[in-house]
Amino acid sequence: MSLEIVILAAGQGTRMRSALPKVLHPIAGNSMLGHVIHSARQLDPQRIHVVIGHGADAVRERLAADDLNFVLQDKQLGTGHAVAQAVPFITADTVLVLYGDVPLIEVDSLLRLLKHVGPQQLGLLTVELDDPTGYGRIVRDADGQVTAIVEQKDANEAQRAITECNTGILTLPAGHLGDWMSRLSNNNAQGEYYLTDVIAMAVADGLVVATEQPLDAMEVQGANDRRQLAELERHYQLRAARRLMAQGVTLRDPARFDVRGDVSVGRDVVIDINVILEGKVVIEDDVVIGPNCVIKDSTLRKGVVIKANSHLDGAVMGEGSDAGPFARLRPGSVLEARAHVGNFVELKNAHLGEGAKAGHLTYLGDAEIGARTNIGAGTITCNYDGANKWRTVLGEDVFIGSNNSLVAPVDISSGATTAAGSTITQNVDNQQLAVGRARQKNIDGWKRPEKIKKP
Ligand code: UD1
Ligand code: CA
Repeated sequence: MSLEIVILAAGQGTRMRSALPKVLHPIAGNSMLGHVIHSARQLDPQRIHVVIGHGADAVRERLAADDLNFVLQDKQLGTGHAVAQAVPFITADTVLVLYGDVPLIEVDSLLRLLKHVGPQQLGLLTVELDDPTGYGRIVRDADGQVTAIVEQKDANEAQRAITECNTGILTLPAGHLGDWMSRLSNNNAQGEYYLTDVIAMAVADGLVVATEQPLDAMEVQGANDRRQLAELERHYQLRAARRLMAQGVTLRDPARFDVRGDVSVGRDVVIDINVILEGKVVIEDDVVIGPNCVIKDSTLRKGVVIKANSHLDGAVMGEGSDAGPFARLRPGSVLEARAHVGNFVELKNAHLGEGAKAGHLTYLGDAEIGARTNIGAGTITCNYDGANKWRTVLGEDVFIGSNNSLVAPVDISSGATTAAGSTITQNVDNQQLAVGRARQKNIDGWKRPEKIKKP
């Protein structure tokens, strides 16, 4: 069986009250349409057609990819009309229809639907809802065979009482589509070309309609306004949290944890509350992440400890290294095994060798720090001269006293020491002590100024 997928994404989404096209609104850091495309790709279709209309340029620009065929639907005349726009491009024998604003559909449910449907059958994903208001109803005959879908606005009293609803997601035998599309009419309560009218046509043509249900009704829930968007977000996050817990992660509170990207985890990882994981994050065994941390595009090797309120972006932390509380590791920060970064320390494009330490109130930018080197509190690299960035290179076992300014480019060789309060502008050799500050002067009998009395 060859498969192509049509994703409907042309609608306006007025209730979002937004300049952003509805399908570009994010769930977990990715657009709703992006999630649907991601799921669609996992079914390995020949091609994915995305029907766009409102905000077409923005949607195309954001999501353009080789396997996507964007089809413009100038006017939104209904779901049937939308699918008809894609039909001329279809060469496969089965078509699956998905929706750009129904982002949580699981690949598993789609696979079950596809497996269930024979080559000359129509497949419907339906859902039982306590409150079916607004949905198309699944009409079955005395034998339980589906005969039609009736939209809410066209339904009679008895049909409105049906609680089995159309999710909109369906599979169609492509060979019939040209014919069915040409026979659609907009002679109905909404004056639209309904995709759902093909069900009755298929039955009249002697085809059987197979149905399947998603495991969870949230999978087929659309987002029409920001409240529904938020509900889908929370559902997505809970699902992501459960997946991680199943892999051996302790989440102190799964309701206060957000993933916005791809996370891989080892065993016995502990994550405290209000942690956000963004982009591609790799977490190995025994990592502990304290509360209120944001970790983006970073790798945390075995046994890493990150304390409260730390912010990582593009960092690699080696085995047993630790950072925080209040550490900021910017892109290019690399900590080798057992390196230590303490509170109010900022790193950017800085490499800390094995066991190196920067415990307090420090900025290290464009720096190479050798193994076991210790950076005193309040030290900064002066890496920028207003025009160019320069490197600071420290050897192994260097001791930088507190409150140093290391004016780059500068080299401090292994075993060297700098005195507290130094401004280091020249290279320092092995084992030397550099004192880069004015000598202290003590003045005897110093009189403090006296307050001038007002007349
Ligand atoms: C549709 C179904 C209904 C089902 C419901 C599930 C039809 C006629 N009805 O109704 O049976 O219960 O979904 O949510 O199909 N779209 C386009 N172009 C158009 C019209 C719609 O791209 O011309 C897109 C919309 O952006 C949206 C989707 O198709 O993503 C569904 O359209 P909508 O008008 O919301 O259909 P419903 O009335 O909800
Ligand atoms: Ca809808």
